[in-house]
Amino acid sequence: MRIYLDLVTRSYLMSPPEHFVVEYAINPWMDTNAPVDTELAVKQWEGLRETLVRLGHTVHVLLPEIGLPDMVYAANGAFSVDGVVYGAKFKYPQRAAEAAAHRRFYETLGWRYHLASETNEGEGDFTYLPAAHGGLILAGHGFRTEVAAHAEAQEVLGRPVISLRLTDPRIYHLDVALQPLDDANIAYYPGAFSESAQKVLAQLFPDAVVATEEDALTFGLNLVSDGRNVVLNSEATGLAASLRSAGYVPVPVELSELKKGGGSVKCCVAELRG
Ligand code: ARG
Repeated sequence: MRIYLDLVTRSYLMSPPEHFVVEYAINPWMDTNAPVDTELAVKQWEGLRETLVRLGHTVHVLLPEIGLPDMVYAANGAFSVDGVVYGAKFKYPQRAAEAAAHRRFYETLGWRYHLASETNEGEGDFTYLPAAHGGLILAGHGFRTEVAAHAEAQEVLGRPVISLRLTDPRIYHLDVALQPLDDANIAYYPGAFSESAQKVLAQLFPDAVVATEEDALTFGLNLVSDGRNVVLNSEATGLAASLRSAGYVPVPVELSELKKGGGSVKCCVAELRG
């Protein structure tokens, strides 16, 4: 039986997809010819927000801005650890202005905000495990975030950063390939990483939940876990079953409209680590 030592109330930041459309394509999932139902996207987003609140967590809301359709993917705006914020510097100009909106939010909270010099997409490519090896940051590169940003994040946040190279263009952010399940363990799809990165992950996380290609491509790994409840895309039924056998409680949510932008649960949720 699992004992849920890490179960605490978490704080998140989300931004409603009121202006969500797919009018440019910066990842292989985005098809500018496929119709998007913005109203349905908002409804599904509301379902995700309510789920997190029902599980006892706090959700802050960042006001969406016209002309920033990808702002709903709030995970990309910054990365915080111990109340210190490493700001995003987006790869594509279409999303660049989102970083300032996130910055204003953290400044209102009174958190120390560091403007990044290196290209990085926040929690899209960074994650943190407070109880793994005394506090470990995992970081992806290969498609969006530059490897130089990993060193910059380590300087800003004072935690060791493990660099992991992503190799599959469909899995262009770390948070589509790997997510923490609790403070010390992860779920990940090895095939999304270079051979060396796979070795590093196997060494650091021998007890990880190892996911399949299907789990990744149904955006199952793009999950938000509080150490017990794992909120994940409802299409990822295979991963939900593996998580259940590993002792976690899968909580499926439907986010089909947001998949059209190339994202799911985790992309919509930034964690505020105070
Ligand atoms: N359309 C967005 C982009 O390509 C999707 C971002 C998904 N976010 C994430 N955290 N993986 O930038």
